[in-house]
Formats: sequence, C-alpha cells, structure tokens
Amino acid sequence: MRLRDVERNDLEVYISMRCDPVMMAELGGPQPRERVPRQLERDLQTVRDDTAWIKMIVVDDVDHAVGTVTLYSHEDSSEIGWMVLPEFQGRGLATEAVRALLDLARADGRWGPIHAYPTTTNVASNAICRAAGFSLRGQEETEFAGQAFVSNHWVFNPPHPPDPRDR
Ligand SMILES: CC(C)(COP(=O)(O)OP(=O)(O)OC[C@H]1O[C@@H](n2cnc3c(N)ncnc32)[C@H](O)[C@@H]1OP(=O)(O)O)[C@@H](O)C(=O)NCCC(=O)NCCS
Repeated sequence: MRLRDVERNDLEVYISMRCDPVMMAELGGPQPRERVPRQLERDLQTVRDDTAWIKMIVVDDVDHAVGTVTLYSHEDSSEIGWMVLPEFQGRGLATEAVRALLDLARADGRWGPIHAYPTTTNVASNAICRAAGFSLRGQEETEFAGQAFVSNHWVFNPPHPPDPRDR
C-alpha cells in the first residue's frame, strides 16, 4: 500500500465512492453524480494550496486508486477521514493508510491534535481509531448533509518530536 496525492484521473474512483449508498450510509448518503467533478476540482486546488492532504490509497497490480484518506485543518485542530472501495475492504488497507498518514502528519508537525468522528455504529472506523492509537473523548451528536448522527469523538495527539537537547 502507498499513498499519493489525488489526481484529475481519480474521477471514476471518486464517483464509485461518493455516489454509492452503502459507502455513504454513515456519511450523509450518496452524492449526486453531477456534483462530483466540482468536488474533485476543489480537492485538486486544496492539494495545490497545501491546505489539506487528500491522499489516494494505491496497491500493486490495481490500475486505479482503491480508497482515500484525508486530513483537513480547522482553526485549532485537524480532522481525518477515510474510505476504501467495497471490493478492497477487510484487508487492513484503511488501518495501514491511516497509520501512514498519521506518520506523515507527525513528521510534518503542523497539524496538532487530530480528531475523528465515526458514527457509533461504524464498527470498522471505530476499530481503526482504536488500532491507530486514538483516544476516545466521548460521544457527540453531529450533523452531516442535513442528517443527525451520534458519533464517537476520537483524538490522536502526535507525540512531540525528540528534543535535540535530549541527545
Ligand atoms: C471504514 C472503512 C474505510 C474500513 O476500510 P477497511 O480497509 O475495510 O478497514 P480495515 O480492513 O483496515 O479494517 C479495520 C477494522 O475494521 C474491521 N472491519 C472491516 N470491515 C468491517 C465490517 N464490515 N464490519 C465489521 N468490522 C469490520 C476489521 O476487522 C478491522 O478490525 P480489527 O483491526 O479489529 O481487525 C470502509 O468500510 C469504508 O470505506 N466504509 C465506508 C465509508 C466510511 O464509513 N468512512 C469512515 C467515516 S468515519
């Protein structure tokens, strides 16, 4: 598994992920197909501006990306999200991709505490948070695309980089 920035030719994978009712069940429901190209253009601009990380998950011998892991910064915190195409789920790819992105964030140093808000019913995503070293802060009611959800609030505090004076 490796991560790379989103590219314009990821449109079909975007459509597969965002317009699928099962994939989007915990994320406010499927998006209309016609909105996806505009979303992709916004994401490409975000990557050019380096204001968020939108990484695609790539595996050997598959000629398209198989998922995505993203990191957005808000005023004083950051939020991570993830998706893996159904036919590639259950192989540990999301867990590996999240760990890899957290490693990049730790090395980069600008992101601060990283938050995740999977719904309480999203078994796989809550398992990923636990496996990747997030701490559970509690439950919150959230709204996504006009729908109310109960989410677990997880936080990952990147360890401080080693202090050179300690060497
Ligand atoms: C959540 C999602 C990214 C998981 O992807 P994945 O590559 O299958 O995840 P992994 O293989 O790394 O598995 C992670 C954990 O979830 C478990 N898991 C995976 N699919 C599961 C399922 N359908 N039901 C229950 N547990 C599941 C795995 O056993 C693993 O747990 P473990 O570490 O205790 O063994 C994928 O299901 C998805 O894209 N869902 C739709 C979008 C979504 O909900 N995104 C997250 C919003 S917060």
